[in-house]
Formats: sequence, C-alpha cells, structure tokens
Amino acid sequence: QWSLRSVAAEHRLLTGFAVDPKLLQDPHYVAVVREQASLIVPENAMKWGALRPALGQYSFEQADALLTFAEQNRIRLRGHTLCWHRALPSWVEAIDSAQEARRQLTEHIQTVTGRYAGRMHSWDVVNEAVEVKDNRPDGLRNSFWLRMVGPDYIEVAFQAARAADPAALLSYNDYGIESETYDAEQKRSAVLLLLRRLKARRVPLDAVGIQCHISARPMYSYGPGLQRFMERVREMGLQIFLSEMDVNDREVDRTPGRQDVEVAQTYSRFLAMALEERAVTAVLFWGVDDGQSWLRYENGRDDQTRPLLFDQNLRPKEAFYAARAAMETR
Ligand code: G3I
Repeated sequence: QWSLRSVAAEHRLLTGFAVDPKLLQDPHYVAVVREQASLIVPENAMKWGALRPALGQYSFEQADALLTFAEQNRIRLRGHTLCWHRALPSWVEAIDSAQEARRQLTEHIQTVTGRYAGRMHSWDVVNEAVEVKDNRPDGLRNSFWLRMVGPDYIEVAFQAARAADPAALLSYNDYGIESETYDAEQKRSAVLLLLRRLKARRVPLDAVGIQCHISARPMYSYGPGLQRFMERVREMGLQIFLSEMDVNDREVDRTPGRQDVEVAQTYSRFLAMALEERAVTAVLFWGVDDGQSWLRYENGRDDQTRPLLFDQNLRPKEAFYAARAAMETR
C-alpha cells in the first residue's frame, strides 16, 4: 500500500497533481491529495484570469488557501503560470501601449511571486511561448505578449520573478515536444533554440516543464526524440519537470476494461522511458480524477474519458498502479 509520494521520494522525485482549491471542501479529494502528493500545482487558480479580476486588483483568496493547505500537509507548491497567451482577462487584452504592457507584466510578476516568496517549490514563469506554425525565425509564438512587449518579454518575466523570489525554481513550460512526430521534432528544435538564447543571455532559468499531454492512440509513439531533447536540456544544467501529464483516450477501444488497460499501458511505457532521464525531478498529473479532467470538455463533451490515475469516485485505476510501478523501477 505504498503511496505515490513515498515511492517517488525513494527515487528522488516529487509527484502530485494539478488541483482546484474549490475541491478542498471535499474530504475525500483532500484525503487522496494528502496521501499521494508531495507537489501540487493549481490547475487554474494562479492564472491571470483568476488572480486579476480588474485593472489594479488582485484576488488571492484561492491561491492563499492552496498554499496554506500545501504547507499544512508538507506538500510543495508549483505556481502556474506567470506569463501565458491564454486565460488573460479582457482588461489585459485591451492594453494598447508597449510600455503599459511591459509595466503590467512586470508588476504582476513582482506582486505575485513577491507575495509567496520563499514558500514556492517553483514557478512556471513563461508557458507555451514557442509555436513553429507562426513561422517566425526565432520560433516564438505570435502572442499578445510578443506583439505588445516584443521578444524580450520572456527575459523580462524571468528577471522579475528571480528578483522577487530568489528561492523558487524558475521554469519554462511547453507542450507538443513529447512524441516521435515531425511536428514534435520541429517544436523541440525551436524550444532548444529559445533555451540556448536565454542561457547565453544569463536569464535566470532553472528548469524546463514538459507538459506531457500524451495520447494512447497507436499512431503516436514516444522515445528517442524526447530522450535526446531531455539530454540537451540536462547538458544546459537544467532540471526537467513532467508538468501536466495525462493520457488522451479519445480514440481507444472503449470496451469496459480495455480502455483502462490501454491508458495504463501508455503511462507505463511513457514513464519508464522518460524517467530514465536523471534530470527529471518531478512528475505532475493534470488533475486528480477523471471526473475533473479538462479532457472532458476538449473538442466537445466526453464524459466517458478516463485519462487520469483515479476514477471519478476517487478510486485508483490501473493507471495509478502503472505510474507507481514506473517510478518504482526508475
Ligand atoms: O471558472 C469558470 C466558471 O465560473 C464557469 O462557470 C465555467 C463555465 O465554462 O468556466 C470556468 O472557467 C473555466 C476554467 O477552465 C475552470 O473550469 C474556463 O472557461 C476554461 O477555459 C478553463 O480551462 C482551463 C484551460 O487551461 C484554460 O485556462 C482548464 O481547466 C485547464 O485544465 C487548462 O490547463 C492548461 C494549462 O494551463 C496549460 N497547458 C495546457 C492545459 C490544458 O489546456
């Protein structure tokens, strides 16, 4: 009856889930998080959309509650996310000067990281800044922050975070770099280019978050491309977090039994491969139970999706045992 957190600890890993502070009202949910997690991340509660209801206003209740809960239970907290092109309130998107955008970005990061300084495991400082399809030579996404502040918004964000909280690990986070597809190879190259630029400019960066929204579809495979990417990241002296793991089962056989087995096998294969990399220091699953997963609402409603380690009644599934075994044999 070993918990995920105890097995992970023996193999020098932190592990846990994206959580929703509103669900801390549910004793069953709380029990699972307490027992299994050594690291948690708010799925939404620390995004701009949650923290910044209006210009000049901050709303910290949910975020504060989560950090208090974590500290009371000896769980570390990862912050997500200080700079992203999504989950922005409309008053931010209405900003119309470069100077004001830069000022707001800096002020937001100073205020938020400053409030929790010394208490956070890490901050996801910049999320999803690379988009190959946007066809820029630097690989950057043509996002709100890029258009308003310019490409050095990334550097501005990391500097502000380090200045306000020198203790937290600062990470760059992105998706689409996990599989063996051509797209993923292009994405990996573009992300490595960005990381090298940041390192060359001495931007304070400690870790890379690889989201790991993977798929149980047979057409996807995982392996050498990701391993090479992780090796390069390690050579830059950075840690790696598998930061948002879940297994998309939209196209797998939904026969009862089959579905959970295929999801579990995907967890097994992927984690056995990825955890060979010693630079991986944390594994986070994007939600606790299937009932809360964002995949229920992605590309149309899917109430039968079972992408996480616990079912909607918070019972551990095959995927739980598979993930635990993969950590165990690390
Ligand atoms: O809070 C409101 C609620 O008041 C309202 O009743 C409800 C009606 O739709 O919407 C609620 O907000 C939603 C929020 O999730 C909370 O459920 C937003 O509309 C919805 O856009 C938001 O989606 C989140 C998404 O990021 C965008 O911020 C997902 O929960 C969250 O899982 C997802 O997470 C992202 C990571 O941050 C970055 N990486 C990819 C990952 C998956 O997309």
